[in-house]
Amino acid sequence: MDIKITRAKQLKNKPDESNLGFGHYFTDHMFVMDYTVEQGWHNAQIVPYGPIPMDPASMVLHYAQETFEGLKAYRNHDQILIFRPEMNAKRMIASNERLCMAEVSEELFVEAVEAIVDYEKDWVPSAEGTSLYIRPFCFATEAGVGVHPARAYKFIIILSPVGAYYPEGVNPVKIFVEDEYVRAVVGGTGFAKCGGNYAASIAAQVKAEKMGYTQVLWLDGVHRKYVEEVGTMNAMFVIDDEIVTAPLEGSVLPGVTRDSCIQILKDWGYTISERHLDIDDLMEYAKNGRLKEAFGTGTAAVISPIGELSYKGNVQIINDFKTGELTCKLYDELTGIQWGTKADPYGWVKTVK
Ligand code: COI
Repeated sequence: MDIKITRAKQLKNKPDESNLGFGHYFTDHMFVMDYTVEQGWHNAQIVPYGPIPMDPASMVLHYAQETFEGLKAYRNHDQILIFRPEMNAKRMIASNERLCMAEVSEELFVEAVEAIVDYEKDWVPSAEGTSLYIRPFCFATEAGVGVHPARAYKFIIILSPVGAYYPEGVNPVKIFVEDEYVRAVVGGTGFAKCGGNYAASIAAQVKAEKMGYTQVLWLDGVHRKYVEEVGTMNAMFVIDDEIVTAPLEGSVLPGVTRDSCIQILKDWGYTISERHLDIDDLMEYAKNGRLKEAFGTGTAAVISPIGELSYKGNVQIINDFKTGELTCKLYDELTGIQWGTKADPYGWVKTVK
């Protein structure tokens, strides 16, 4: 791919790495590419980070044809590492297909991610627990107010140096089990990473935050009974000697971190079951001590221990609100592979250039 580069006239001051938070700072440049039915993907550019001129009738603003991804680049001294970018590429292909949007091929996606990360490599932070969050996104730009697949799109990648997603860092979070709103149903867009799924989740998030909870745990949209995901992360539960997570049947996001954790846990000899888990059973296991640990997995959240579950007024504390042994071990293994400080027997980590 030929990428035209326009350098920013003035570069920004880099933020303090000890206080990055999540998603507050953006680098000097972004990757932009256009699509039309006639020309396919064209006009690949690295340009100064800034506003995108848009027609008010751009179809994304009306019918939400928008998909996005999240992955990270890590610094190991002078080396910049990216974790499993081809998995994110494949997921964006599936998301775009579901929303009838133009496909960004795996090759294009990975090449564009590598190009912009390489160009902005001075922005990859080095402080412990920090990384450069990569946010590729795609949206309909055709001007029109009729509902049909748009004939024009943009694919953009922006970059943000980040610390922990939750203010709790790697300490346990409190989760509210949502029984009023639903996130997704099989046949809908739950498996796709599209902005619409997140828009639909905000009311529940606001409700949970008002009650002092960090996030919500979603139940399946039909029976309102089976545990699905947390929205910003997939959820895993250590029940006796079994680790349980929701199956990928169409309503749950196929997380890259979820997949990586499943592979690591299997290799460690654990029994990991992708199966339905009844919320009443889960609350009972939490009460009688059979639920040993619970944690979320996600690119932004990494591995995030769950210390409390609240469901219909029944509040249960998990593992004395402490980060469990397995949760810690998994966090160390995964982040070790991602930062290049542990061996990567899976070939997951890609060195930029
Ligand atoms: C991620 O983990 O990368 C996500 O996209 C979750 C969230 C920031 C919306």
